[in-house]
Amino acid sequence: MKVFVTGGAGYIGSHTLVQLLTAGHEVCVFDNYCNSSPVALARVRQLTNRDMRVVEADICDADALTRGVTDFAPDAVIHFAGLKAVGESNDIPLRYYQTNVSGTMNLLGAMDAAGCRRIVFSSSATVYGEAHYLPFDENHPIAPTNPYGRTKAMAEGVIADWARATPDASAVLLRYFNPVGAHESGRIGEDPDGIPNNLMPFIAQVAIGRREKLAIFGDDYDTRDGTGERDYIHVVDLADAHLAALGYSGAAQGCEAINIGTGTGITVRELVAAYERTCGHPIPVEIGPRRPGDVASSYAATKKATNSLGWCAKFGIEDMCASSWRWQSGNPDGFGDAPHSS
Ligand code: NAD
Ligand code: UD1
Repeated sequence: MKVFVTGGAGYIGSHTLVQLLTAGHEVCVFDNYCNSSPVALARVRQLTNRDMRVVEADICDADALTRGVTDFAPDAVIHFAGLKAVGESNDIPLRYYQTNVSGTMNLLGAMDAAGCRRIVFSSSATVYGEAHYLPFDENHPIAPTNPYGRTKAMAEGVIADWARATPDASAVLLRYFNPVGAHESGRIGEDPDGIPNNLMPFIAQVAIGRREKLAIFGDDYDTRDGTGERDYIHVVDLADAHLAALGYSGAAQGCEAINIGTGTGITVRELVAAYERTCGHPIPVEIGPRRPGDVASSYAATKKATNSLGWCAKFGIEDMCASSWRWQSGNPDGFGDAPHSS
């Protein structure tokens, strides 16, 4: 199948490329590298021994996007490109709406021009907002609590309306829980710019000595040990979910939202302990105040993914930590220390 992948050089995109190319699909990546490096694509080529087409451009440039999609004439699109930092989305909301909502509209317009009717979209569990009940199932009310989450909810709505109005269209909205870990080779992984916002890359940077200690954002939540509980999902499992969604989109019409998680919550302290077992030394922590906007617990109902996609997570927390550590210890500065071709 020919698959057009926006944001393919990013964390989740690069891992999905490996699975796509290994499965024999033909790929065109569309990325402006605003939060990624061409080194990731070079490493994907090395890992798979397969080549791909690459267009370096912005999804906000509708003409470039239409040219890119039309020239490649894909059977399906996976849409990863977007901005994802919750804190930043409070500071520059219009850039988030421009990229995540208008960029998605540009992409659907480009697909219309090229006659492509299948899309898999990177959504987020953040669209649910405060939990009315747990686990979150796909019918849980949508009430995001920050601009980033609202852009995802709006993009979901735009895609759903497009699918309704487009004969034979098929759209799958994958609501990711907390993607972590890295490819087993340790050659690609998450490479956050500056101070990591998320827990796992922060722990990894403390473990490698780039940061002194982890601040635990609150230990007085109503959870097993008082720290926040999340549904961490191995990025390779997540990548496989995209291939399953592509298969599903070939057989089903309309628009479906599907959670992608393991269904199991892990607390901050449990994740730190698992990482310590992996790296073999203690990870210094200090208890800090709660982070505004955080919830006590979040984890997925996974039945729909199993029933619709025939997919479920294979990797556990030990695999997530081991692969993260392999990537972090082999690439202490992420892709930053590698020349562009290596
Ligand atoms: P990432 O930042 O590593 O990857 C995003 C990619 O999109 C990058 O390569 C970036 O350069 C590219 N991009 C951004 N804006 C662009 C633009 N205007 N034009 C072209 N390319 C652009 O992020 P990721 O973690 O791989 O996330 C991928 C998608 O999944 C995002 O849409 C994100 O919102 C969503 N998501 C991520 C998480 C997570 O925790 N990582 C959770 C839920 C949802
Ligand atoms: C974050 C995003 C959310 C996104 C999700 C998945 C925020 C506010 N929310 O949520 O939109 O969908 O990632 O990628 O950024 N923690 C610490 N110390 C740290 C970092 C985190 O104790 O330095 C704790 C948090 O309080 C939380 C847990 O670790 O309990 C996980 O945090 P994080 O990795 O940021 O994920 P989410 O809070 O789920």
